[in-house]
Amino acid sequence: MQFSIKTSTAESLKTACAVVPVLPGRKLGPAGAALDQALSGALGTALAHGDLPAKAGSTLLLYGEARRAARVLLVSMGEESPVSEKSFGEAVRGALRHLGTLSGADAVSLLQEAEVDGRSFAWRLRAQVGAAREAAYRFERMKSKKEAQPVKPERLAFLVERAGAADAQREVGEAVALANGVDLAKDLGNLPGNVCTPAYLADEARKLAREHKLKVQVLERRQMEALRMGALLAVAQGSEQPPRLIVLQYRGGPAKQAPVVLVGKGITFDTGGISLKPPAEMDEMKYDMCGAASVLGTLRAVAEMKLPINVVGVIPSAENMPGGGATRPGDVVTSMSGQTIEILNTDAEGRLILCDALSYVERFKPAAVIDIATLTGACVIALGHHNSGMFSPNDTLADELLAAGRESGDRCWRMPLDEEYQEQLKSPFADVGNVGGRAAGAVTAACFLARFTKAYDWAHLDIAGTAWRSGNAKGASGRPVPLLTGFLAARAGSR
Ligand code: BES
Ligand code: MN
Ligand code: ZN
Repeated sequence: MQFSIKTSTAESLKTACAVVPVLPGRKLGPAGAALDQALSGALGTALAHGDLPAKAGSTLLLYGEARRAARVLLVSMGEESPVSEKSFGEAVRGALRHLGTLSGADAVSLLQEAEVDGRSFAWRLRAQVGAAREAAYRFERMKSKKEAQPVKPERLAFLVERAGAADAQREVGEAVALANGVDLAKDLGNLPGNVCTPAYLADEARKLAREHKLKVQVLERRQMEALRMGALLAVAQGSEQPPRLIVLQYRGGPAKQAPVVLVGKGITFDTGGISLKPPAEMDEMKYDMCGAASVLGTLRAVAEMKLPINVVGVIPSAENMPGGGATRPGDVVTSMSGQTIEILNTDAEGRLILCDALSYVERFKPAAVIDIATLTGACVIALGHHNSGMFSPNDTLADELLAAGRESGDRCWRMPLDEEYQEQLKSPFADVGNVGGRAAGAVTAACFLARFTKAYDWAHLDIAGTAWRSGNAKGASGRPVPLLTGFLAARAGSR
């Protein structure tokens, strides 16, 4: 789908379909009213008949004039005034659904003239681009026959006042860059484990580096051995697939500016290892690299936006299999930090690959480190599928992430990291155990990671409940690319 900005007056608008918001109280906004006048009051008449339900996202199609707006799609914004964020989203999705059934190739949206509670004009544009790209996303790479029809409309424009055109153009461009990052994260997540291996992720990183002039480095087993990454290597040793540690650097900021480092869990398939998982829904463990995918997706978005900030992406990647060389429960390994770990449960592998990556990134002298991981089933129990779990000992960093989550609609919720929980990780045989029992499983996982993050400001995002959807509409969500990109845009001072 192509997006653009239009600055013509509503009266002279020429399009296959004008998308017009109907505000609370069945009122038209200024642009809608101008269009109504140009079409001899057809919009007002339709509204007076009461055929458009008040529920947000309801639509009513009218036919206009061939040389102006050939069609007008009236879209109800709901009854709350000002329009809520939720109603705006429903209206946009309702409009897109209806536009998908029409034969016209283009549409012009006026929906941004509906004021949304606490949200800027720019937000209203970005939300529409995001929703349109969300509706247009298909994953058919593994099908021999492509089923889906091309998405309609092919072109979607936003009507804005001339004075705001340049800003609007930039906002739409950034929203497209974000959607490209989200789509990359979705594609990588949706690929099966036999295709998306650690080596495949490394190739994707190299491709991204080529296309966007990033610096890329891929460490292999020998180099991990030299770095004494005993925890990462322990996870990889039950699989035929060799591990990788991927390092991508984007330099958009001043040379001396300390980078934000993103560390993404890249388990390309998690069987649990010798602590084998039960069979039900095990296929969903191909999504155990969604943290890694979000790092690649965010770097893509940030590079396309040319954000003035330095960002490093680090991806420890391995496959967790119960092969003959696999780690046994009770094995003790030495991490890069020197801390010894008793691996009580080989299914708690994410924290093992992450802890060595978290030690590795000290060399970048980071401004902040954020790790992103489908880390615990316990986080899904705690928060469900709407909020990612966010953990940080640093209030400022935590508040920045909460704010970025609210602004982008990709929300997170802060969870505790109190010292008391560390008790649960004590081991009689090593410095730390890799599991802390059933109670507060998401918290003890974060507490484990905290032991490796003393050298910098750090936050952890547990995306086990938000990175993909199960059931009928199974698929990767691309989260938390919007959250991370919004956080970085705010840090870069551009939002
Ligand atoms: N990748 C899983 C976490 C997960 C499970 C995410 C289900 C989404 C849905 C992780 O590696 C894991 O297996 N964690 C264990 C930890 C436990 C052994 C302490 C879990 O959550 O059961
Ligand atoms: Mn696991
Ligand atoms: Zn896992």
